Amino acid sequence: MSISNLSKDQSQILQVNAPAKVNLHLEVLGLRSDGFHELAMVMQSIDLADCLRFANNEEGLVSLTIDDPTLSAGDENLIVKAANLLRSFSDRSDLGAAIHLQKNIPIGAGLAGGSSDAAAALKGLNSLWKLGIEKNQLMELAADLGSDVPFCMEGGTQLCFGRGERLEPLSTFRDSSMSILLIKDPLVSVSTPWAYGRCKEIKGNDYLSSEIDFEKRRQKLRNQSWLRALDVPPLYNDLQQIIEPELSAVENALKLLASLPGSDGVAMSGSGPSCFALYPSLQSAKTVHDEYKAEFEALGVESWCCPFKSQGVSFFDE
Ligand code: C5P
Repeated sequence: MSISNLSKDQSQILQVNAPAKVNLHLEVLGLRSDGFHELAMVMQSIDLADCLRFANNEEGLVSLTIDDPTLSAGDENLIVKAANLLRSFSDRSDLGAAIHLQKNIPIGAGLAGGSSDAAAALKGLNSLWKLGIEKNQLMELAADLGSDVPFCMEGGTQLCFGRGERLEPLSTFRDSSMSILLIKDPLVSVSTPWAYGRCKEIKGNDYLSSEIDFEKRRQKLRNQSWLRALDVPPLYNDLQQIIEPELSAVENALKLLASLPGSDGVAMSGSGPSCFALYPSLQSAKTVHDEYKAEFEALGVESWCCPFKSQGVSFFDE
């Protein structure tokens, strides 16, 4: 049975909102013994979200449908991985679900769309299947699925250390109306392993290697005054210096955003290729977006205007 054929009285249907993120700060500190990079980041949820719907499947099958045919709905999809991880963790292979993903966040964009979907699947299925898994445990499962998945569970504004999974919450922008104008070339996507691989090739000799040095950098970031006052974040991304010279789509996007009026800075998000300009209010971002939307379309670039968001994945009634 498809999820769209289920009415509320036939089965409980849960809807979970899965917002994207941008990096206000991304510093690559060094290489870890597990092969991942040690990072010092500030991640920010934005109001651009996928929507996941969950219904029980009495036959014990997990099925996924997606409104975007370019995205695989097979076992390698992080939503299916999250469902299987929950089933094996709870030792309940009898549990099934029909899951539908409405994809709004661009794919391979540096916006953590796949990670947010995985976080939404953990939260949604924990509730649908009444597993009662506690938050700490759910966060560990999230980290097993991907470095950005714990952030996506919590969301808002967070310092993210380690692989990205060690979170320290910040309330800096909770009452702010700061917004971004986000653009992406729909024909270009970036593989995260490739981006970090290039970073290692180019900057590997300058990497820090001791935990003492990592901690000094973390402390330096924690002490930044803009994290305490409602100040304009000085956007920074080490991966931007790696990716911008290699991808003309990123170079062009950053130039285009820098030429727009009134922004407080521009940067690439994550490993790219999405780039954004920061605005002090939704209205100021919208005014520029309205003025330049036709130009973005003519250049073949997708664009969104998104306020900062103070939470990660959430049920629709939350
Ligand atoms: O954790 P996630 O699955 O999102 O990571 C994807 C890939 O990105 C990793 O396999 C690794 O190549 C790279 N990565 C990294 N250091 C991180 C996060 C990701 O090298 N902190």
